[in-house]
Amino acid sequence: KVVAVIMVGGPTKGTRFRPLSFNTPKPLFPLAGQPMVHHPISACKRIPNLAQIFLIGFYEEREFALYVSSISNELKVPVRYLKEDKPHGSAGGLYYFRDMIMEDCPSHIFLLNCDVCCNFPLPDMLEAHRRYGGMGTMLVIKVSAESANQFGELIADPITKELLHYTEKPETFVSDLINCGVYVFTPEIFTAIEGVSTHMEDTANLRHVSSFEAFHSLSRTLPKDFVRLDQDILSPLAGKKQLYTYETMDFWEQIKTPGISLKCSALYLAQFRLTSPHLLAGGDGTKSATVIGDVYIHPSAKVHPTAKIGPNVSISANVRVGAGVRLIGCIVLDDVEIKENAVIINSIVGWKSSLGKWARVQADGDYNAKLGITILGEAVTVEDEIVVINSIVLPNKTLNVSVQEEIIL
Ligand code: GDD
Repeated sequence: KVVAVIMVGGPTKGTRFRPLSFNTPKPLFPLAGQPMVHHPISACKRIPNLAQIFLIGFYEEREFALYVSSISNELKVPVRYLKEDKPHGSAGGLYYFRDMIMEDCPSHIFLLNCDVCCNFPLPDMLEAHRRYGGMGTMLVIKVSAESANQFGELIADPITKELLHYTEKPETFVSDLINCGVYVFTPEIFTAIEGVSTHMEDTANLRHVSSFEAFHSLSRTLPKDFVRLDQDILSPLAGKKQLYTYETMDFWEQIKTPGISLKCSALYLAQFRLTSPHLLAGGDGTKSATVIGDVYIHPSAKVHPTAKIGPNVSISANVRVGAGVRLIGCIVLDDVEIKENAVIINSIVGWKSSLGKWARVQADGDYNAKLGITILGEAVTVEDEIVVINSIVLPNKTLNVSVQEEIIL
């Protein structure tokens, strides 16, 4: 048997995701019309002999309750949310719930970061891991040398694929091969985490005795039950024939900002074309609006037949789209109203917002720039004919003048 664990983190981690994380936990923010965490969960469904999926985080349980029960029914695999009383780190959180994870005596444990967007080649990783042996195999990808320092950089043996060296977000360049945050481990991983926390306890006790130990513990002033997978486990185990790498040649993104989430929504829509074309609008002829490229429209949304939508648009529940509306490259969240002839380009429109007639909400679409996409927070009103360009508008604002390159607080 195999189990999967998805690390969802908690509220303090979502600050870069504002203003979209005010009321919704980031893992439930919709990409391609499905909660972010839905994409790794449905990838887990392809793992042979999958017994259970656990989500581990420190968000309130009730925030995940509804989603967890509906996805369990849909996938016919038990999905459980396990809440930490406080953050234990990416490895500490796993260790904290070891008894529940090991309940079914799994031979392998998948561990996935919730905030990555890729096609999760999990069965291929498991097969590669069985060939390599060792304690774990991690998904890796080549990125540009300039962007590599935002991630864990690593060196792998070109023949055996063994992880030889690992440094988390190094200041000086090590390698353009990086950690994707997707792993498969044997249960030995728990022994490794236990080893680290015991060592940390010893180090803490010795602090006043040995200046060498004191030096090392100073650089790590974290509680002893806080264990990070990358720095505390991967780095020391590199080069010990325990960890191996599996390189993906497909897409991969880390979802830290709303800008990147817009890009990831498009990537997942493109993937639906291959994996779940029934989720895309236009194929079945039931929506009479003009649809261009990959578009998701929630069944409860009401779209006027003269609207023109796409490519890369995702429309959530109960959205109303008026006559002559044009939507390109955007995420429109629940209960939004878009009146006649309004235009939305490269933007995210928050829950319950409304756009007046001929209003324009747009941006140039540079996903990495601070104001490269326009974001309207929850319940923002854009009045008739108002233009909002490359701006972020915080919740509950009413715009009656046009703005450009502004953050409206
Ligand atoms: N449950 C729980 N508890 N989850 C946590 C905790 C915790 O205390 N701390 C972090 N996480 C979750 C986050 O939500 C995220 O899904 C994952 O663990 C990793 O988060 P971080 O430890 O903050 O690392 P990161 O996202 O900056 O970078 C990691 O992922 C990159 C790939 O996306 C590193 O492993 C990098 O090396 C890697 O490139």
